[in-house]
Amino acid sequence: MGNTSNILQTKRIGSKSIGMTEEPPKKKITRKGLSTAFKLYKYIKPYRKEYAIGLFFLLGSSLSNLAFPKLLGDLIKTDESGTLGQNINQTALILGVVLILQSIFSYFRVVLFVNVTEKSLAGLRRATYNHLIKLPIKFFESKRVGELNSRISSDVTLLQETMTTTLAEFIRQIIIIIGGTVLLAITSVKLTLFMLVILPPTMVMARFFGRYIRRLSKDVQKKVADSNTVIEETLQGIQSVKAYTNEKIEISRYKKLTESIAALGMKSGKYRGAFSAFIILGLFGAISAVVWQGSRLMLAGDLDAGDLFSFVIYSVFVGGNIGGLAGVFANIQKFIGATEDLFELFDENEENIQTPKNIPEKYRLRGAISFKNLKFAYPKRPNIDVLKNIKLNIQPNTMVALAGTSGAGKSTIASLLLMLHYPEKQQLFYDDTDIRDFPISVLRKQIALVPQDIFLFGGTIRENISYGKPGATNDQIIIAAQKANAMEFIDRFTEGLDTVVGERGTQLSGGQRQRIAIARAILKNPRILILDEATSSLDSASEKLVQDALNELMKGRTSIVIAHRLSTIRNADQIVVLEHGEIVETGSHYELLAKEDGKYKNLSDLQLS
Ligand SMILES: Nc1ncnc2c1ncn2[C@@H]1O[C@H](COP(=O)(O)OP(=O)(O)OP(=O)(O)O)[C@@H](O)[C@H]1O
Ligand SMILES: [Mg+2]
Repeated sequence: MGNTSNILQTKRIGSKSIGMTEEPPKKKITRKGLSTAFKLYKYIKPYRKEYAIGLFFLLGSSLSNLAFPKLLGDLIKTDESGTLGQNINQTALILGVVLILQSIFSYFRVVLFVNVTEKSLAGLRRATYNHLIKLPIKFFESKRVGELNSRISSDVTLLQETMTTTLAEFIRQIIIIIGGTVLLAITSVKLTLFMLVILPPTMVMARFFGRYIRRLSKDVQKKVADSNTVIEETLQGIQSVKAYTNEKIEISRYKKLTESIAALGMKSGKYRGAFSAFIILGLFGAISAVVWQGSRLMLAGDLDAGDLFSFVIYSVFVGGNIGGLAGVFANIQKFIGATEDLFELFDENEENIQTPKNIPEKYRLRGAISFKNLKFAYPKRPNIDVLKNIKLNIQPNTMVALAGTSGAGKSTIASLLLMLHYPEKQQLFYDDTDIRDFPISVLRKQIALVPQDIFLFGGTIRENISYGKPGATNDQIIIAAQKANAMEFIDRFTEGLDTVVGERGTQLSGGQRQRIAIARAILKNPRILILDEATSSLDSASEKLVQDALNELMKGRTSIVIAHRLSTIRNADQIVVLEHGEIVETGSHYELLAKEDGKYKNLSDLQLS
């Protein structure tokens, strides 16, 4: 039963997050927003020449676009006597040339814009990732990684759309609106004014109306998806539904949803009907009105048929582009939102990560560690001291075990030792040097951690092991795998070391994953080894094997071993028992067992019984 309700829960969360591919927020176009958007120029700059040529082509294609109605009108222009002009063929030829030019310009405009956009966005994506991966753990704890990822990718997609399409649209529209209006005014100022009063407002209204309807139908889709989730959940969790005889409740839940879908659908239907009525009446009415006024001018002899023809086409051009401007404007607002969003990320400070070839003598670890009254609270919960008054001296090349109840702070100590979280100054020392004085990479290079929850990358076993030492030879990898007792199962796969482990290593058992992580640590050959529950998912037989391997591995280096099962830490030089973030006992296994009513003794008795 527990299982089915689990499915229900994960399903519910899963379907929610699918529906939440939200768009970046629209931002007012302010000076600050524009200056943030301008930061993007850094990534476009290397390709600015290409972009400039693209702009030139854009100009060319917009201008030739503008010439089109004029030439069409010329085709049917009559001379004073009322007959068609003599130059029809010549005009047709010019028209053909203009169309060819326009298509060539458009082709190169699109190709150049896309090229520049792709290259600059590749640069931006790289810069973002490079920055992201260097941010401290603290940052990732305050963000949901999946959300972050989808946010960044939707931001970048929006930038892409803006740089390839929106910007070009905007420039083209401005050219057509201004150029078109000028040309219209040359033909007839009176008619132009008449047109400007009725056509653009109708177009803008049509635009907003259309957008509103689209939003409505999106809402309907979302509601339908929600109702499908109910079906999916209840059918998958049918055991729970039946066991709790909740069929009636589910039926009424679904009924409510279907009713609200129908209501919303009908509302959207009403608007759709109104929209088509509006288009017929408003848009075609406005065009008819322009033609009507034009005919009156024609009657008065102010205009001929060709002029009127191109006038109407220009009017539709200008009106349509003014309508389109509203959409482009909204896109630009979203674009500014997206850049602000993205560049906010760049305000976060990176860890200072560099990968030195050789470790400077002064930072080479000799293996002593001392905690001097260490106190630590996670940045997310600054009021709760997870560790307090930790005083501990660890001699080089000894094995220290951390024991204690769940939540006592053992893993926290491991992450402090690696500076995944930063302890305060003067509280944690390697040899005689404050941990805060070490360059992070130099320190981490000398320490290996086999963490409590092991993460494998989706590639092969070989890739996962060599993560401990990129560039390791085949022999080195095999030796490490053997020492970790991993070769035993690797050999049983037909692909051997090249077996793919599946996303996050899901095609391996917990114990197999652990041994790969141990092999990774062996390959790194660290000065200090930290094992956080490294043998917890192993059965007793493999635990024995891995324990032997670990004992071998721990020789000649300082090791910190965290274990719940006390049998694995019996021969530690020093056992430290933690409780609620404080050290409550230290000593060897036998010393601690000898304590009357000691914490360690109690734990041990509990495990033996
Ligand atoms: N990233 C974090 N942010 C805030 N609090 C945390 C974080 N990680 C752990 N804690 C809290 O710190 C305390 C110590 O956690 P820690 O993981 O060190 O315990 P542990 O001794 O390793 O336990 P276990 O034996 O279950 O692994 C717990 O109360 C935990 O809730
Ligand atoms: Mg832990």
